[in-house]
Amino acid sequence: MIILASLIAYLLGSIPFGYLTSKFLWGVDITKRGSGNIGATNVYRNLGPYPGAITALGDVGKGMLAVYLGFLLAGERGALTASFFVVIGHAYSIFLKFRGGKIVATTFGVLIMTSIKVALVVFIIWLVIMLLSRYVSLGSIVCGLSIPLVMLLFGLKVPQIYLGAFLGLMIFYRHQDNIKRLMAGTENKIGTRKKG
Ligand code: G3P
Repeated sequence: MIILASLIAYLLGSIPFGYLTSKFLWGVDITKRGSGNIGATNVYRNLGPYPGAITALGDVGKGMLAVYLGFLLAGERGALTASFFVVIGHAYSIFLKFRGGKIVATTFGVLIMTSIKVALVVFIIWLVIMLLSRYVSLGSIVCGLSIPLVMLLFGLKVPQIYLGAFLGLMIFYRHQDNIKRLMAGTENKIGTRKKG
């Protein structure tokens, strides 16, 4: 059952909502626009709030659904395994030749199902950093790295803290291009349409 939960989570994670929404509803290949990312930020930046919101909901929702199904199939261990595989699917999608996104929204979906308190605090960290700096990516990197610490603070179990550390490091790793742009002062700011 763990294997089935992992497979379902990977396939769910692989569904590239940003790519599909942009391509089939707005006729745009989002991987060729802006930062080239398939996430809600880049979809919003290039196509506006509605496609951005659809992407965010889809990516958060698939994270939630994968963890829920993992739990139904194999209890806590299934939920934990599904959490890993749904973000792996988003980052290395089988439908996009193993390319994919930066896992922030999908991670948020996983956190909602793991601990709503942790999800809320991490979301607030993301929001505050993002609003103060006007860099979505900086908010994502800081909130990602804060996940295991916030989990520790709320007394989550050791395997969940390992999951949190994995999610944080993965978010950091997936933002390499953003980090380079942040250091060069060329990163996209909220409210601008500068290309990445
Ligand atoms: O969630 C992705 C965000 O942190 C950065 O997106 O398009 O600016 O690379 P983008």
